Amino acid sequence: MTVEQRRALVTAVPGPKSLELAARKAASVANGVGTILPAYIVEAGGGIVVDADGNQLIDFGSGIAVTTVGNAAPAVVRRVTEAVQRFTHTCFMVNPYEGYVEVAEQLAELTPGDHPKKSALFNSGAEAVENAIKIARVATGRSAVVCFDHAYHGRTNLTMALTAKDMPYKHGFGPFASDIYRVPMAYPYRWPGDPDAVAEEAFAQFESMVHVQVGEDQVAAVIIEPIQGEGGFIVPPEGFLPRLAQWCRDNGAVFIADEIQSGFCRTGDWFACDHEDVVPDLITTAKGIAGGLPLAAVTGRAELMDAVHAGGLGGTYGGNPVACAAALGAIEEMRSNDLNARAREIEAIFRARLGELAARHPQIGDIRGRGAMMAVELVLPGTKQPDAALTGAVAKACHAKGLVVLTAGSFGNVFRFLPPLSISDELLHEGLDLIDDAFAEVLHD
Ligand SMILES: Cc1ncc(COP(=O)(O)O)c(C=O)c1O
Repeated sequence: MTVEQRRALVTAVPGPKSLELAARKAASVANGVGTILPAYIVEAGGGIVVDADGNQLIDFGSGIAVTTVGNAAPAVVRRVTEAVQRFTHTCFMVNPYEGYVEVAEQLAELTPGDHPKKSALFNSGAEAVENAIKIARVATGRSAVVCFDHAYHGRTNLTMALTAKDMPYKHGFGPFASDIYRVPMAYPYRWPGDPDAVAEEAFAQFESMVHVQVGEDQVAAVIIEPIQGEGGFIVPPEGFLPRLAQWCRDNGAVFIADEIQSGFCRTGDWFACDHEDVVPDLITTAKGIAGGLPLAAVTGRAELMDAVHAGGLGGTYGGNPVACAAALGAIEEMRSNDLNARAREIEAIFRARLGELAARHPQIGDIRGRGAMMAVELVLPGTKQPDAALTGAVAKACHAKGLVVLTAGSFGNVFRFLPPLSISDELLHEGLDLIDDAFAEVLHD
């Protein structure tokens, strides 16, 4: 790792060089492509990103849960360098290569369940989700798909239909794909019913709504993020996911776990489903799978995956050889550095520090998450009314101090923390100190 593991600010953030680049961006890049923190990056590694002005920022975002193994992780760089010097593309559907098969073998080994599994590789998370739905529909001969409130599954037409939030993801982009049905999410902090029976009550609503509005025998698939990402790191209560998986088994529907954000050591397990030993029929992965190179996958029961006719799945770039080499490098890093254990250590640090922060600030209504996927939800004190303005102000203060933080949540009032698992304890604590300072500054206490 060549990047010095130290926060250092030499200019304001963003500095003059970044501002110059931002002006070029404004003139040449579509406005619809936003940037959260317009400090233009030239180098990154461990827990630090370095911008064009030489500022060294602490990274609590991992490029939205992608650089789980760290930016430019050694095994990723080594394997990518070897691969890119040999060949860059053939298209697996034209002339195949070993790396693709090796990634599929690794996915079969690492994903939940010991049944025979197969995979198909794609470029983005949304593409993986689309293909999981295609596979479920062909395999079942049914078309209805059930998804959840607060879900995020992507920005393509079918995945926009599955995504819950209107602004900015869906607004004005309809009409959307049909035969999609949304049911309430088991969201413990905001559940209107009995707080001790969220799993039971939410499952009862799921069952009843599907029965009344869809019909059990029409359901091709139920798709859920085992911990919701963009929705605000909503962790369903124990028992909810196993009930859904059982319902799918009982009713001939495909249970799809979208682990695009929660997968690959992020939560302290290989996959968030492992926490309750839930075995999905299909699992979608992307983000952390390849240390930053674009790769995604659908992995699942061999008989489901093989239901699709030859030529029915694929794409020009899906499973690109360099991206596959990156995935094998990322998996090597995860195994050799026991990154599941590291994610659990990071959770312990976050829980302790966020607990102290919440004791001082009643604006922190909820602390939740698992592993290195932690969040706080901000509300008006004494209520559960979302405080998006405070969230935005604290995020801005963090950015100015040299800490990359991301917000999330249907109401825009959640901080989500997604540090790379290669970050040091020192940087974690320093980043948490900066969050503490940012709250104090914004709340003037
Ligand atoms: C759970 C989940 N599914 C799907 C997607 C879409 O992935 P992509 O942006 O690679 O298309 C995301 C991206 O944030 C995600 O978090």
